[in-house]
Amino acid sequence: IETTRVDENSKNQQLENFREDPNEQYLTTDQGVRISRTDDSLKAGSRGPTLMEDFHFREKMTHLDHESIPERVVHARGSGAHGYFQVYESMADLTKAKFLQDPSQKTPVFVRFSTVVGSRGSADTVRDVRGFATKFYTQEGNYDLVGNNIPVFFIQDAIKFPDLVHAIKPQPDKEMPQASAAHDTFWDFASLMPETAHMLMWVLSDRAIPRSFRMMEGFGVHTFRLVNAQGEGSFVKFHWKPLLGVHSLVWDEAQKLAGKDPDWLRRDLWEAIETGEYPEFELGIQMIPEGDEHAFAFDILDATKLIPEELVPVRRIGKMTLNRNPDNFFAETEQVAFHPGNVVPGIDFTNDPLLQGRLFSYVDTQINRFHSSNFTEVPINRPVVPVHNQQGAGFMRQTINKGKVNYFPNSLGGGYPKMASEQEGGYVHYTEKVEGHKIRERSKSFKDHFSQATLFWKSMSAGEKKRIVQALHFELGKVESKEVRIRMVNEILNHISYELATMVAQGIGVDAPSIAVGSKVKDVAGTIKDKAVHALS
Ligand code: HEM
Repeated sequence: IETTRVDENSKNQQLENFREDPNEQYLTTDQGVRISRTDDSLKAGSRGPTLMEDFHFREKMTHLDHESIPERVVHARGSGAHGYFQVYESMADLTKAKFLQDPSQKTPVFVRFSTVVGSRGSADTVRDVRGFATKFYTQEGNYDLVGNNIPVFFIQDAIKFPDLVHAIKPQPDKEMPQASAAHDTFWDFASLMPETAHMLMWVLSDRAIPRSFRMMEGFGVHTFRLVNAQGEGSFVKFHWKPLLGVHSLVWDEAQKLAGKDPDWLRRDLWEAIETGEYPEFELGIQMIPEGDEHAFAFDILDATKLIPEELVPVRRIGKMTLNRNPDNFFAETEQVAFHPGNVVPGIDFTNDPLLQGRLFSYVDTQINRFHSSNFTEVPINRPVVPVHNQQGAGFMRQTINKGKVNYFPNSLGGGYPKMASEQEGGYVHYTEKVEGHKIRERSKSFKDHFSQATLFWKSMSAGEKKRIVQALHFELGKVESKEVRIRMVNEILNHISYELATMVAQGIGVDAPSIAVGSKVKDVAGTIKDKAVHALS
């Protein structure tokens, strides 16, 4: 199929249509009427009451009164940047996604980095997961890779997400603490939820206090699926690798910066781009052939597990360069709406129950944020390719559909819009066979919660271990409930490592565990190693 070629400038050109002319000389009302004076309201006499007919006053005030929309329920604080992505070589053997075919093509992107827990005005350098969301404006529509800077997640099933978010957000009674995991409710939840163990180790490590958004990795977290033109699928994990390397703050710096410059990460990103130090990230993939779905000691549909890179190395397939700051924070960074369900032909989902739940949540929350499903028409969210469909009525509709026909099938509208065949770029879902009993149960293959947490701990240097213990002293030391502290030591940490549990217990007024019940790390390599190597060849 012939489609308009979309290059790096397409999004900029498209946005140009919505940009205000900075050289316009006169202040006007929203209706375009020029204003003669804006410093005084219209009054009956210079000391008299203000008049209702002062349309300029009313309009100016009304706008201010409405200059906010609900902040994101999570990831409220973020910073955005424009740029482009280029693939290194055609990925046609694995995916038919057009933006992954031609190394000469630059696909425009918009990225938003974020913290998760704090409100829009919270400090940048808190200990937290960082969001790393990328919107690719491809010639086949928008593709969103909505990732984090940590490769695993706290929970395995999306139905636990509301509980996780309630536990990690400020408490409902006193709206504290603001942007730290250091509170009773979060640690109460974590101590009762062993599946959080692996992610906890990452969150307590240096990874959770990045030095710069330019210096952190990104991960799609879930196993996704690539599909080629022959309809063959492969499992894939997505990675972003920063060309500046991975660097972190130390806790003392992070705390001081939170006071001295709460905009530390936002400023760093902005200034780097302004001075031409463009942040660069390579896109990496870990490929797992369909036939190897069950070849690992863990389930690849379990988002609390990563696939060790020594088993399936990351292949770097392209590079993203961020080269332009947004013109307007609200219009772009605040109004951008990412959604893991925004995929293009050649990229598909898996049955990861966390991913499946995300596919519902994002648009649902965005309708709350924008009070309309027409947020897709906001310039930053518009694809650079034409959009034709028969929906649209609702708050803030921008597009003016023509004609009397808004249903399908029709004959009165000439049968349009027509359906695209697969060859014409129509999205066809991967034909995975699914069978099973309707059952509210967790797969047994999701049961092992500690092996990878233990591997993580064991892979740390002495200095890194020390800082994880210090982080736990800081976080758990603030937990009022001794019961929760005891449970964290005995039910979670001691299952990760006796050494870790003992060192932490000493600093938080809890007895060290009497016996080591530390996880017996399964041979994560073992049987899969040959297959993993085979997968790469
Ligand atoms: C933002 C839900 C897991 C990455 C959000 C938002 C919601 C949400 C409601 C706010 C979106 C908005 O207002 O526009 C969920 C649910 C999850 C989940 C239900 C699990 C069941 C994850 C995971 C990742 C992730 C595993 C990383 C792989 C992000 C990012 C954002 C975000 C990066 C911010 C996007 C932006 O910058 O606008 N999520 N999330 N989330 N989520 Fe998730």
